[in-house]
Amino acid sequence: MKKIGVIVGSLRKESFSKKLALNVMELFSDNFKTDLIEIGHLPFYNQDLDVEGNVDKAYTAFREQVKQYDGFLFVTPEYNRSLPAVLKNALDIGSRPKVDNVWDNKPAAIISQSPGGLAGFGANHHLRQTLTAINMPVVQHPEAYIGNVASLLDQAGKLSNDDSRAFLQTFVDAFEVLIKQVKTGQ
Ligand code: FNR
Repeated sequence: MKKIGVIVGSLRKESFSKKLALNVMELFSDNFKTDLIEIGHLPFYNQDLDVEGNVDKAYTAFREQVKQYDGFLFVTPEYNRSLPAVLKNALDIGSRPKVDNVWDNKPAAIISQSPGGLAGFGANHHLRQTLTAINMPVVQHPEAYIGNVASLLDQAGKLSNDDSRAFLQTFVDAFEVLIKQVKTGQ
């Protein structure tokens, strides 16, 4: 059984990203267990609070939690053509100290969403840039840009659009293949 951590780039209660994430979590096959990982409680990363013998407890707890996962799905909105600070902060916290980067060689997949038409392209690609720096192999294709997200979800937050569900299934399938490839090195 592989464990996938699902990290949402929005703290909003009615977040479209979170609703989308909950739908996508259902598309993984039986060999995978998915959990939402909370990031909203994390303090802003401060190197002064990350010195040996005096490390912020929240950093340590997050790093220990994240280490247990075999891969990560990021579902995020776009804030001003980039990824939200709360998501970048979580990635930064997990990445230090550099020799213990908890993200190292863990497969990742990115879904960006927007109520508008641009579908979070800027967030998606800025996130890719950071995932390169922290050495996460990322699903390249299909790329998942979900635009006009409100029209794809019903009142209960369920994906009501069959084409979108079918597309997201191909995306999850590609992620599962990547996870196997990274594990075997083939
Ligand atoms: C936004 N929004 C937004 N949308 C977009 O498509 N491109 C953008 O650059 C931005 N920029 C932006 C900045 C800030 C600070 C906020 C608060 C919002 C709108 C955003 O897509 C919308 O609020 C989504 O609903 C946010 O995602 P969640 O919270 O529903 O997951």
